[in-house]
Amino acid sequence: MNKLATAVAAAVLAGSFGTALAADVAAGKAKFAVCAGCHGPTGAGNEALKYPKLSGRDAEYVKTQLHAFKSGTRDNATMKAMTAGLNEADIENVAAYIATLK
Ligand code: HEC
Repeated sequence: MNKLATAVAAAVLAGSFGTALAADVAAGKAKFAVCAGCHGPTGAGNEALKYPKLSGRDAEYVKTQLHAFKSGTRDNATMKAMTAGLNEADIENVAAYIATLK
């Protein structure tokens, strides 16, 4: 019984790590098309229009910010709207793509 529980827990853990590691950069790139309208195709941002630079940010940072915009803990109407349509996998993927922008 205990062994079974351990095996199940291990499988669940492996499964969630598997998902975290399997961020789909290509899918993230496709999602980024709309973001590029403001943040630029290379993520360089637009200082004059106050669109922050995203290139050079790591995936963890981007994910944290996207969750904060989505939940409203980081208050920005534009980015709240932008994140409203992103599910967990989308956030994972787009963050992984942004992390490739140097
Ligand atoms: C209409 C313009 C616009 C679009 C489109 C847009 N953003 Fe933004 N984004 C902004 C603005 C403005 C801010 C600054 C918000 C603030 O001041 O808190 C921002 C901030 C961010 C930040 C935080 C940057 C930092 O330095 O903390 C991230 C990450 C981000 N956007 C990602 C995205 C992603 C991913 C998409 C596409 C799904 C996207 N944005 C689409 C305008 C836009």
